[in-house]
Amino acid sequence: MKTVGLVSGVLQDGGDEELDRSLRPRRLQDFVGQERIKEQLAIALEAARSRSEALDHVLLAGPPGLGKTSLAHVVREELGVGIRTVAGPALERKDVAAILTSLEERDVLFIDEIHRLSSAAEEMLYPALEDFRIDIVMGQGPAARTLALDLPPFTLVGATTRTGLLTTPLRDRFGMTFRLEYYAPAELASILRRSARILAVEIADEAAEEIARRARGTPRVANRILRRVRDVAEVRHEGVVTTEIAHEALELLEVDEHGLERADRALLDAIVGKFGGGPVGLSTLAVALGEEPDTIEDVYEPYLLQLGFIQRTPRGRVVTEHGRRHVGSVAPPDTEAGRLFDA
Ligand SMILES: Nc1ncnc2c1ncn2[C@@H]1O[C@H](COP(=O)(O)OP(=O)(O)O)[C@@H](O)[C@H]1O
Ligand SMILES: [Mg+2]
Repeated sequence: MKTVGLVSGVLQDGGDEELDRSLRPRRLQDFVGQERIKEQLAIALEAARSRSEALDHVLLAGPPGLGKTSLAHVVREELGVGIRTVAGPALERKDVAAILTSLEERDVLFIDEIHRLSSAAEEMLYPALEDFRIDIVMGQGPAARTLALDLPPFTLVGATTRTGLLTTPLRDRFGMTFRLEYYAPAELASILRRSARILAVEIADEAAEEIARRARGTPRVANRILRRVRDVAEVRHEGVVTTEIAHEALELLEVDEHGLERADRALLDAIVGKFGGGPVGLSTLAVALGEEPDTIEDVYEPYLLQLGFIQRTPRGRVVTEHGRRHVGSVAPPDTEAGRLFDA
């Protein structure tokens, strides 16, 4: 994802694939929370294993950082097969055949950001997903012939931040669709304790709980805060993360009590200050913030919506009274937004 404009907080400090990888749960039992998903997946995995069949195609949906990539790797680990990972936007039609024919029986093909596949690549995938077959066109013009090529049965795991952008034929080809939810603070605290063990950081329970409360329901954010907190603990203190140090670091990072960062507050401030509380269209808002519309929609809005700080209306985004209170502004009674609150 592109990082431009005011994005620089904990939420989106790109380039730590490395950290993500080292902290990724390997087995289903290490994957914290999402109990219903784990339960359904465990049954499907067990059934596929006992029949020696490929697992049904799986679609994983949800905001960034909730564990979609981790879960794809868990699936592979639990099946004891290989995995190929490709980014949806980068997958070209001509690569599809090469990738599919390189798969071994029951392998996992993981397509990240699958809602951004080109339609040409997507169409190549349809027969592969349905009948484990691809149609290759040989030659050109009147001499062109179509060659059907059989593939080994495989499992597609698709990840998307937006199911709404998936075409119906693609969505229909998934046997299972799971929507990942934001994590409860207790679950994030347990993820943090596990991460601290892996990173060899000593952390007080209360400190883990405090970080968990401010990690906007997102494991990736929790892990990133932990890493920064560890820096503060090492540089300014003896290395052990106490509650005071957690507070100090969170303040330094400008993560507030709701887990909002400067960029989130800037978004709320912009709607309130520049657009009278809204409604304001996404693209207008994006220009005002110097931000990509996709980033606003995928990264910032889901949590602000979840908190009830903003609303999506047919005419644009509106800051709720709750949201206004958070940025310290009260709705003027005669604006459209103000009327919305009274309703
Ligand atoms: N359920 C979970 N249990 C433990 N750690 C998790 C869980 N979900 C995510 N994580 C951690 O959060 C980080 C980001 O997860 P990832 O799978 O990359 O998210 P996504 O692909 O949805 O953006 C990973 O490094 C992983 O360690
Ligand atoms: Mg991912």
